[in-house]
Amino acid sequence: MSTSNTILITGGAGFIGSHLVRLMVNKYPDYKIVNLDALTYAGNLENLKDIEDKPNYTFVKADITDADAMQELFAVHQFDGLIHLAAESHVDRSISNPMSFIETNIVGTVVLLNAARSHWGDFSGKRFYHVSTDEVYGTLGETGFFTEDTAYDPRSPYSASKASSDHLVRAYYHTYGLPVVISNCSNNYGPYQFPEKLLPLMINNIRHEKPLPVYGDGKYTRDWLWVEDHAEAIDLIYHKGVNGETYNIGGNNEWKNIDLVHQLCDVMDELLGRAAGSSRELITFVKDRPGHDRRYAIDASKLQNELGWGPKIQAEEGLRKTASWYLENTGWLERVTSGAYQEYYEKQYTED
Ligand code: NAD
Ligand code: TYD
Repeated sequence: MSTSNTILITGGAGFIGSHLVRLMVNKYPDYKIVNLDALTYAGNLENLKDIEDKPNYTFVKADITDADAMQELFAVHQFDGLIHLAAESHVDRSISNPMSFIETNIVGTVVLLNAARSHWGDFSGKRFYHVSTDEVYGTLGETGFFTEDTAYDPRSPYSASKASSDHLVRAYYHTYGLPVVISNCSNNYGPYQFPEKLLPLMINNIRHEKPLPVYGDGKYTRDWLWVEDHAEAIDLIYHKGVNGETYNIGGNNEWKNIDLVHQLCDVMDELLGRAAGSSRELITFVKDRPGHDRRYAIDASKLQNELGWGPKIQAEEGLRKTASWYLENTGWLERVTSGAYQEYYEKQYTED
């Protein structure tokens, strides 16, 4: 596809979005990058402080479910392309409150598809890039990998809402010819991740010497990817991917939760100057997540073979970089965990 130069990134104040916005604003000084975000509990403009004054960057606070606002935004900016990350993203929250996931992840995506469809003329040179998750494929046993041909089998309200949005994006490709591309990525980790997710939650609890809540038997397996490797993959797929295609993105980096938490505890002990083994003593096995998917593992060979992508940061280095970032940015952690976070934490971890 042709090189687009006015790009809308939705959800750019969140975890992955902020890394993508930073990458694109710095890498493409001639583009106009518009970051649209509703600034929910998960969105934070502090994540983008270092680039907020760049001339090629604009922030718009808006909700993707607001159809009039999205139509107006498309009319004003004449976007060449869109990279859609805005979403409710946490599985546990989707179990306690599915409706906000339906609204943002499904309805919000259709609102954006409609805005693109009505403003993009004959669609030439345009691109609608939908960022999704490997969780749409359901769960794996001890062996095997998700490929782009794996049948969808979502099990949580979160993954069902993302699966639904993926289907709708594909439906707009087949029905209206909207130029779309989708990627499905494994678990990301790194700086600016909200401490409801496994690694930053554990890091924050280790700092405060609080219990480390491991769900079930701790043998659930995830494939972890350094967030900047994901942002690079998105940039590559946005520019080089083929319309109508799906690309799986993964780190080839599987960990059982308990092994990952052990590794993190050891790194934290070292960084905090605590006695070896002391953080491991905080581990507490707690009630399992309902419908907990046993194992995710991605086959990313299509992306590797067709577009030449591969992860650059390996697990040991990434874990250390992540732990160090949180310890160097305790102000950020304190600010995002004050207020509503306390209420969420109580409800999630102390109620039956
Ligand atoms: P996040 O929760 O950190 O950020 C989501 C962002 O979307 C926040 O800035 C939030 O304010 C914004 N947002 C939420 N509802 C909105 C609305 N109605 N209108 C406008 N903005 C809204 O999520 P993340 O981890 O950065 O994930 C980003 C995307 O990547 C999501 O689509 C998610 O499904 C996908 N994904 C995430 C992972 C992962 O490991 N985190 C893996 C694969 C795919
Ligand atoms: P999470 O970071 O919520 O990502 P996802 O559910 O999207 O994979 O969880 C990663 C894994 O860690 C998952 O198997 C659930 C588990 N987990 C815990 O054991 N304890 C926790 O407190 C959290 C948040 C997650």
